Amino acid sequence: MFVITGAGGRTGRAAATHLLAGGYRVRAVGRSTRRLADLAARGAEVWEADPSDPAALAEALRGADGVYAVIQPNYLPDHPDFGGFQDQVAASLTQAVTESGVTRVVGLSSWGAGHAEGTGPVKGLHRFEQRLSSVPGVDTLWLRAGYFMENLLDHAGTARTHHRISAPFEPGLPLPFVCTRDIGARAGEELATGAWHGTEILELQGERDVSMREAAGVIGTAVGADDFTYEQTSRADFHAALRGKGVSANVADMMVEVGEAVNSRHTRMEQPRTARTSTPTSIERFIEVEFTPRYRAA
Ligand SMILES: NC(=O)c1ccc[n+]([C@@H]2O[C@H](COP(=O)([O-])OP(=O)(O)OC[C@H]3O[C@@H](n4cnc5c(N)ncnc54)[C@H](OP(=O)(O)O)[C@@H]3O)[C@@H](O)[C@H]2O)c1
Repeated sequence: MFVITGAGGRTGRAAATHLLAGGYRVRAVGRSTRRLADLAARGAEVWEADPSDPAALAEALRGADGVYAVIQPNYLPDHPDFGGFQDQVAASLTQAVTESGVTRVVGLSSWGAGHAEGTGPVKGLHRFEQRLSSVPGVDTLWLRAGYFMENLLDHAGTARTHHRISAPFEPGLPLPFVCTRDIGARAGEELATGAWHGTEILELQGERDVSMREAAGVIGTAVGADDFTYEQTSRADFHAALRGKGVSANVADMMVEVGEAVNSRHTRMEQPRTARTSTPTSIERFIEVEFTPRYRAA
């Protein structure tokens, strides 16, 4: 039986779905069983536990052959100390793994997580890796995922209005865009059949590297807008725009740091691109299936 934490989120739901489709027993953990009803309908045992409650999480993990461990959500825009939130969930997951006696974990991390500093919210994933990997007797595989394709969905409204997406990244810089469904599916696959020992790291780099300029071109083609462009936002404008949307100073500072880390290559992929570090969903497919309907509805 495999336990999927964060089963209500994007990667967790995909991990649970992948394992259920393969006939494996799954315990899907989230803060509300109501939001896990679709997984229950597919045969999952659904389990309510708050990720910041280590005792409840330890109960949820007990008896598992393997666990998918994830800090969710992606970020909390108005949080005054998002790193503190990440540390609280990481401590809780680590304590739960220790107390439950689980010995195999697939954890979700990020490109850039090898660095302790200068990577925005990825610093919290670095600390998560360090903390959980220090539990004796546990084999942990860290999936260091690239830049989520789903980040583009935040732009669907302004894309429709202005025929433009904007971000702090250099226009031509190749980015390892990866789809969250592929990440979850890979987590499920590794839990079911993977062989890793001690602490291992596997980067998930997406189908191919794609620059923001190329992503804008793919969107333009998909929505039939020849004038669709990408605009690189300055650090100050990006920060001001986030603050204007109600993002806390703490989270806005982190997001600005992400842009700087990626542009300076401080955050970069370090493993060679191979079949194992690649995932199937192309940017064209993602834009067609996920982005375009959101764009048309905006
Ligand atoms: N964005 C990127 O480019 C990128 C790249 C690499 C790694 N990552 C990492 O990926 C992880 C996110 O994974 P994901 O995309 O699977 O998560 P996600 O889809 O963002 O998770 C959403 C779920 O989080 C739960 N949630 C919402 N608010 C919460 C709160 N205040 N406290 C606790 N839980 C809350 C909800 O589930 P329930 O209500 O069911 O609990 C919700 O369905 C993060 O650790 C992020 O750093 C992101």
